[in-house]
Amino acid sequence: MNNKVKQELLGYQSISVQENLTYFKPNKASTTVTFAEEIRKSLQEPKKSISPKFFYDENGSKIFDEICSLPEYYPFNSETEILQTLEKKLLPYLSNEFHLVELGSGSSVKTRLLIDILFKSQKHLQYFPIDISEILDQSAKNLCADYQNLTVTGVVDTFENGLDFIEHYDDKPNLITFLGSSFGNFNQNEGMKFLQKINNLMKSNDLFLIGLDLKKDQNILHSAYNDSQKTTAKFNLNVLKRINDELGADFNLENFEHHAIYDEEKGRIEMYLRSLSEQSITIQKSALSVTFSKDELIHTENSHKFSIPQIDSFLKESNFEKLEIWFDSKNYYSLVLAKKI
Ligand SMILES: C[S@@+](CC[C@H](N)C(=O)[O-])C[C@H]1O[C@@H](n2cnc3c(N)ncnc32)[C@H](O)[C@@H]1O
Repeated sequence: MNNKVKQELLGYQSISVQENLTYFKPNKASTTVTFAEEIRKSLQEPKKSISPKFFYDENGSKIFDEICSLPEYYPFNSETEILQTLEKKLLPYLSNEFHLVELGSGSSVKTRLLIDILFKSQKHLQYFPIDISEILDQSAKNLCADYQNLTVTGVVDTFENGLDFIEHYDDKPNLITFLGSSFGNFNQNEGMKFLQKINNLMKSNDLFLIGLDLKKDQNILHSAYNDSQKTTAKFNLNVLKRINDELGADFNLENFEHHAIYDEEKGRIEMYLRSLSEQSITIQKSALSVTFSKDELIHTENSHKFSIPQIDSFLKESNFEKLEIWFDSKNYYSLVLAKKI
């Protein structure tokens, strides 16, 4: 299927911002319907939940960037440290001219370190950021302003749809990156399916670079998700504000609080919003009226922490050969380079 056909099938609008920057996104009406339906379904389950992908409206993406500047939020600093020392280690794998594909590119801050490395081995670079958040527009503009020989083709959509979009784009090899430990948000089955999807669309000379957070002292984990400035709490609560704004709901944010705990058995941070009283909420566009008992939890995110044997095992199971694994100086975080077997 060529890209034009795919674009039409997915109902994308194409937005050509400037000569070297185009991005594609589904129309607003269809994304609002999907949002309303998913919220209707997940808030009617016996254990209520909201998918973490809904955190990222424009405000949510801005708050996530604030989280990244918190001293307690080590994943950003650890991953940046690894990327800052990657040039000599990564360049031997970049003998061809690569495209850079990034899943969940956000504000593309760490991406710059990779772009700098790629420009050491090639003159031009085509970058495909894929992110559900509208922040992609501004991050892409910022990159184009700073890199002359960069062409950006963005997809403002889910990881899965973005991957479908770039599959068979052309014959050039892709360096596919998935940074920020976003893989940890999937449960085991979803994660395996996702890795297999990536593996299936990879060409034999493509590379996959994935950031994975490691198991560590629980106090460090607890502080990272319960920061002293309460920025993570603001990020978590913002999803309710988003539902109010976009779906016509009447959540009172003061009646909910952020709750994040480490479940050792499952090896993950679990994030919730706790209802502080018995209350009833109406969400107009979801045609839903939902009640919460006092202390009832809405599950909003998991963030899995991995051991090296776990990483080896899921890479192998999804048909990846691990080429390299790099760590930060504190051994908090890992960056894995892999290829398709
Ligand atoms: C944890 S942030 C990481 C951002 C950046 N890569 C970094 O490392 O700082 C996750 C990013 O993925 C995007 N995202 C989350 N769920 C998504 C989904 N299901 N499909 C596409 N993008 C998603 C968010 O908008 C956000 O920009």
